[in-house]
Amino acid sequence: IATRLEDYRPSDYLIETVALDVALHPTATRVRAEIRLRPNPDGRAGAPLVLDGDDLTLTDLRLDGTPLAADAYTVTPSTLTLTHPPAGAFTLTIETEIDPTANTKLMGLYRSNGVYCTQCEADGFRRITYFLDRPDVMAVYRTRIEADQTEAPVLLGNGNPMEAGEAGPGRHYAIWHDPHPKPAYLFALVGGRLDHVQRDFTTSEGRRVTLAVYVEPGKAARADYALEAVARAMAWDETVFGRAYDLDVFNVVAVSDFNMGAMENKGLNIFNDRYVLASPETATDADYAAIEAIIAHEYFHNWTGNRITCRDWFQLCLKEGLTVFRDQEFSSDMRSRAVHRIGEVRTLRARQFPEDAGPLAHPVRPRQYAEINNFYTATVYEKGAEIVRMLRTLLGAQTFRAGMDRYFADNDGRAATVEDFLAAFAVASGRDLDAFARWYERPGTPRVAVQGAYDADARSYRLTFRQSLPGAPDSPPLTIPVSLGLVGSDGPLAVVCDRVRDGVFVLERASDTLTFTDVATPPVPSLFRGFSAPVRIEMDMADADRLVLLRHDSDPFNRWQASQSVAMRLLVQGTRSGVLPKEAAEAFAAALAAFLDGEALADPAFAALVLALPSEADVANEIGAEIDPDAIHRARHDLRRTLGAILAEHFQHLRDALADAPGTPFSPDAASAGRRALRNAALELLAATDPDGATAQAEAQMAGATTMTDRLAALAVLAQRPGPARENALARFAETYRTEPLVLDKWLAIQATIPEAGTPERIRHLQAHPTFSMTNPNRVRALIGSFSMGNPTQFNRADGAGYRLVAETVLALDRTNPQVAARMLTAFGSWRMLESGRRDVARSTLLEIRAAPGLSRDVGDILGRTLAG
Ligand code: ARG
Ligand code: ZN
Repeated sequence: IATRLEDYRPSDYLIETVALDVALHPTATRVRAEIRLRPNPDGRAGAPLVLDGDDLTLTDLRLDGTPLAADAYTVTPSTLTLTHPPAGAFTLTIETEIDPTANTKLMGLYRSNGVYCTQCEADGFRRITYFLDRPDVMAVYRTRIEADQTEAPVLLGNGNPMEAGEAGPGRHYAIWHDPHPKPAYLFALVGGRLDHVQRDFTTSEGRRVTLAVYVEPGKAARADYALEAVARAMAWDETVFGRAYDLDVFNVVAVSDFNMGAMENKGLNIFNDRYVLASPETATDADYAAIEAIIAHEYFHNWTGNRITCRDWFQLCLKEGLTVFRDQEFSSDMRSRAVHRIGEVRTLRARQFPEDAGPLAHPVRPRQYAEINNFYTATVYEKGAEIVRMLRTLLGAQTFRAGMDRYFADNDGRAATVEDFLAAFAVASGRDLDAFARWYERPGTPRVAVQGAYDADARSYRLTFRQSLPGAPDSPPLTIPVSLGLVGSDGPLAVVCDRVRDGVFVLERASDTLTFTDVATPPVPSLFRGFSAPVRIEMDMADADRLVLLRHDSDPFNRWQASQSVAMRLLVQGTRSGVLPKEAAEAFAAALAAFLDGEALADPAFAALVLALPSEADVANEIGAEIDPDAIHRARHDLRRTLGAILAEHFQHLRDALADAPGTPFSPDAASAGRRALRNAALELLAATDPDGATAQAEAQMAGATTMTDRLAALAVLAQRPGPARENALARFAETYRTEPLVLDKWLAIQATIPEAGTPERIRHLQAHPTFSMTNPNRVRALIGSFSMGNPTQFNRADGAGYRLVAETVLALDRTNPQVAARMLTAFGSWRMLESGRRDVARSTLLEIRAAPGLSRDVGDILGRTLAG
């Protein structure tokens, strides 16, 4: 039973106000909802009123204050229907009883470590009360929360706090009012024992706002970084997008059991605690960066998602793609833009490209879904962000900002569509964006094949572009912005070509040719600078030319891309033939040596990225068919060994030169993080050639480390080598952090990714470790998710042991938390590109899962598409 975009019609009824009264109790929470309804002039007059529910028990129902006759309505756990509702406005008072402790799906109202919290996106509000649970029904909420004084001294809701007081023996209450109409998915409440940190922020409009971050008792010191990140995000959105905050308080709450990363509930963002808690002892540099980015992401939703929400869930990218774009821009301004861009593209290629190439491929705006929670995907989020980025590249920064202003002005307070979004830019730019809109409709990663030809006599250079969408030969062309330039043997060349404006050529036809004049010597083209479009670029280019780009291009992204492309070619060839092309590998090492000598110390973060070889999964995605993960693993190991051997002295020199002076205070800023990144990248490559030396260095680093980044990098190196050094290090780490579940997640993940035959067995042992729990999504992701996504040789074992392990987890989890179970199952999304033996084993594992009784809709949906595609 799929929901389809073309079937959208407005709700027959609208809800103006909601007065909720929630009496919290661990197993019997009473919810009274007084909702003011009226017929929608755009709906069908006299239609029955059908409210959504999920797992609800109705205890009382009144219409305008009077109990409803039994024949006036029908009720099931999933619907409440009034066959003949009044023709004018009316009030329904609905009382339900729910059990937050039994709620293991973590949707609706549940308890996490004793803290009451909610998750309502996409359709969790219907697990709290019967409602028109769809994003185009927007209402003003007043929420009274009542609870036991000692069990829940802190009571938080959406909007502004209005009133609080005692409510009988041992009970108290708080009333919150949110003046901004919102869809039900943005509703939230929290009740529990929580500590907090707070500060003031005055908006550009002069509003004084209290910002606060709430965490489990005793962890307040770890909330400061997140609190300051909120303030930075607020200031940035004012400066860059002209958007100010609109309530008197902004609260963030960290909970330990959470299905996703975080949630942008109006004025009350609820977070997975791993994206809030940070201290030098427990958080890595990557953790600090992720916290800053996700705090910003959820805050930015206040305008892109909350003030302007989605008409229906097909428009999910309208808020998610746009908000990811905004958080990426924020992080780029807070950190190094070039380094951040490379990170964004690595994520896109690692997560979105495979999705687009496999059975779970879907358009950025899907046209149908069976379970919407399965569409919070890399395609909707990351490719969605790339579409917004392309729009800015096409229109220029100034016109883009004018289009955003227009979008905010025209849609504030509305539930909008992708068409509304594009219309704002069409008006602001005076351009027709109909062809551009195809990006939202077409699944799959476009390919752009490029050929260059130099004419010495004419001193001209021609570039021919040909675009195609795999599997869709008749699809009309996409609008593809190509940022480009030409590079000569001493540096960038001036570009003379009337079709290139501000360094951008717009490819709009299936094929097109550019001619550059006044080119004195054969140039090297630098194409898709900054990764200006989410496409696969196919161009035969000699390694030597790519190394010219690494040396001389003005675009840092393409410098990095050049080194990656050379490494990728070596890895693909090494995988296919079983031997690494020796001379080419040595030439690559020599180029890296020159690069490191020249500038590694000037920009260590960038240098660390240049040294990070494509992952085994990257190589598999590049080859795309008949994959043998063991062959890829061997080729990558060979390349690491070759580079390590040739560059050993460079690496050792870098490690010494980048060592912190004793007593250097910790700072999570991008420059300090970059030094740590390069130091640790060097150690990782040294380990490939000099295991004894690297082990000694890693042991010393673990013993003396003052940051989690350094400690963990050392542990990761030690974990790669069988023997007592590894087991000792792992045991000591577990002992040191036995009371820190988020740190032990890293320890679980490191062990889950050991590329050895014993790993499935090790994982089974770890499932019995006190830190592991099947009910906490972070633990499951750390142990099982890291294995399936980060250990290709063992997950894809020819004997099926890896698939079995993941299948068992999916089946066990499906009974308690279908959403996370479905997520774990997406690991099988690339099964069709494996060689035939593994492909058969993967298919029979999927069929075994399908044979299990009582599968959830979440798992059934992923399974059906994975097997069919
Ligand atoms: N809107 C949230 C975010 O991007 C994601 C929530 C998704 N949750 C879910 N159960 N589908 O920040
Ligand atoms: Zn989001």
